[in-house]
Amino acid sequence: MEKATAIMSYAKALQCRECHREYPLNPIHFCEFCFGPLEVVYDYAALAQSISRQSIQRGPLSMWRYRDLLPVSREEVVDMNAGFTPLIKAHNLGKLLGLENLYLKNDCVNPTYSFKDRVVSVAATKALEFGFDTLACASTGNLAGAVSAHAARAGLRAYVFIPADLERGKMVGSAIYGATLVAVKGTYDEVNRLCAEIGDKYPWAFVNINVRPYYAEGSKTLGYEVAEQLGWRAPDHAVVPVASGSLFTKIWKGLKELSSLGLIGPVSTHMHVTQAAGSAPIATAHAEGTMMVKPVRAQTIAKSLAIGNPADGYYALKTLKESRGAAAAVSDDEVVAGMKLLAETEGIFAETAGGVTIAGLKRLVAAGAIKSGELTVAFITGSGLKTQEAVESVVNPLVIPPTLAAFQEAIGKPAGPARAR
Ligand SMILES: Cc1ncc(COP(=O)(O)O)c(C=O)c1O
Ligand SMILES: [Zn+2]
Repeated sequence: MEKATAIMSYAKALQCRECHREYPLNPIHFCEFCFGPLEVVYDYAALAQSISRQSIQRGPLSMWRYRDLLPVSREEVVDMNAGFTPLIKAHNLGKLLGLENLYLKNDCVNPTYSFKDRVVSVAATKALEFGFDTLACASTGNLAGAVSAHAARAGLRAYVFIPADLERGKMVGSAIYGATLVAVKGTYDEVNRLCAEIGDKYPWAFVNINVRPYYAEGSKTLGYEVAEQLGWRAPDHAVVPVASGSLFTKIWKGLKELSSLGLIGPVSTHMHVTQAAGSAPIATAHAEGTMMVKPVRAQTIAKSLAIGNPADGYYALKTLKESRGAAAAVSDDEVVAGMKLLAETEGIFAETAGGVTIAGLKRLVAAGAIKSGELTVAFITGSGLKTQEAVESVVNPLVIPPTLAAFQEAIGKPAGPARAR
């Protein structure tokens, strides 16, 4: 095989989030000393010397424009052009909710239609760097698709483990890439536990287990992009759908990194957690004022967020506290209403997680946590084409024979004068 070229990386080490011991940049994810999770740390002094708004702007129109802030040292990254997705001003939805400054970060338009392409682009690149031949994951659906597609692109084998009751669109959207789909009769938390055991036995790159510290860094790019797209500033509010808590904590890390590198001013963003009420261990802990996340048996139509025992739950609570954010837990009916509201006002067909974000946003505004003029970004992280079951009831067409009279009768009024073309 052709030898890949290594280039300079600013990633310095893995560091335990608890005892701060450092480890070399290997495929490991927890501290041997205290079992705390490991996180990538960078040589920020060297980064500050070389990175600038201009150097970023010269980069590709993808997440890889932030390459210096990602932990890869391989020149050829596994790139499907994830990222640099639209940030759109939501005039209609904003008006409806009473927000003058509402933006939507539309990550539905990634290569496999969710933000998970960002994390997997990094994880697949690291898998090649480490010499693995198989990419694997435990997934609530979107990760499965992203892993399968990036593995296909990188020439890696893929094993994806999912709960057996996953939406059809997510199963097809993974199997199509030639991945081996393992449908486990159990919850995501059970799938994840099984994968930890499998990961001990098989020499695979499990993106959310042994290469998790690298994988998680990919989510920082959502924070970078939003800041850049807002004209190099952090928003006042970020409204984020939360499952394991990783995305939430990494958007925050990304914003703080930009600020400490002098690329944006001080960050005073309030980071808000939105969860489905049937799977809301983080929102519940926040409401109860505790830093202890109590695992739950997740049950919601927002299957992508159905994690009852969130790996980064404690760190999500820390981010909530540090950023003086709030949390909202919404019912399944609100999720569906949120999906419809977003589609009908802004033309974005988001998946159930997007319904959670919009329903949560609505609640946060009603509770006074977000005020009219404040710059607010709601993160829409996956496409509704994969969770069509949730909104089947909208399909209620006028069924007519092929005659003009039948059409007129069906819409209940005669046509006006023909419009000039
Ligand atoms: C569409 C979507 N949004 C948000 C999330 C939450 O991500 P995290 O597990 O990092 O909290 C997921 C997780 O699978 C997801 O699929
Ligand atoms: Zn430790």
